[in-house]
Amino acid sequence: MQRTSVLFVCLGNICRSPLAEGVFRHLVEERAWSERFEIDSAGTGGWHVGEPPDPRSQAVARSHGIVLDSRARRLEPEDLDRFEWVLAMDRENLAALRRAAERIGGGQARLHLLREFDPEAGSDLEVPDPYYGGNDGFEQVYAMIRRACEELLVEISE
Ligand code: 4NP
Repeated sequence: MQRTSVLFVCLGNICRSPLAEGVFRHLVEERAWSERFEIDSAGTGGWHVGEPPDPRSQAVARSHGIVLDSRARRLEPEDLDRFEWVLAMDRENLAALRRAAERIGGGQARLHLLREFDPEAGSDLEVPDPYYGGNDGFEQVYAMIRRACEELLVEISE
């Protein structure tokens, strides 16, 4: 069976996209669908390569029964061919993804803002960068990511 591949992308790959990766994997595992999906995350910047997720992302995930075990890696242009679905946290990430795709002649991936799938997003389609804020920001980011991932899974598993 062809696996559906999903890549979540933010700037540092330590706050938002590892959380999205963990939430999406959790939803997939709850349905016993692990064999159907390949799930990963990456950052458009390289400052934190090799690091575990930010302790605040780990804490908010843990409080919802989710363990984050990824290590930060930098986005590679080839990811835009390797993954079928690539979900950006904000517009800056999306612009970086489009530039990366151009470098490999367009890429096959479907590029979206993750919050296009958040039923409560309204006109604000970004997951804000919580890095310089407090713990509240991480809980809000979790809620956005959770709603969007639930809907994303419904749409791409049909
Ligand atoms: P993320 O958050 O993109 O959600 O992982 C950030 C983490 C680190 C930095 C910026 C954003 N930084 O500038 O180091």
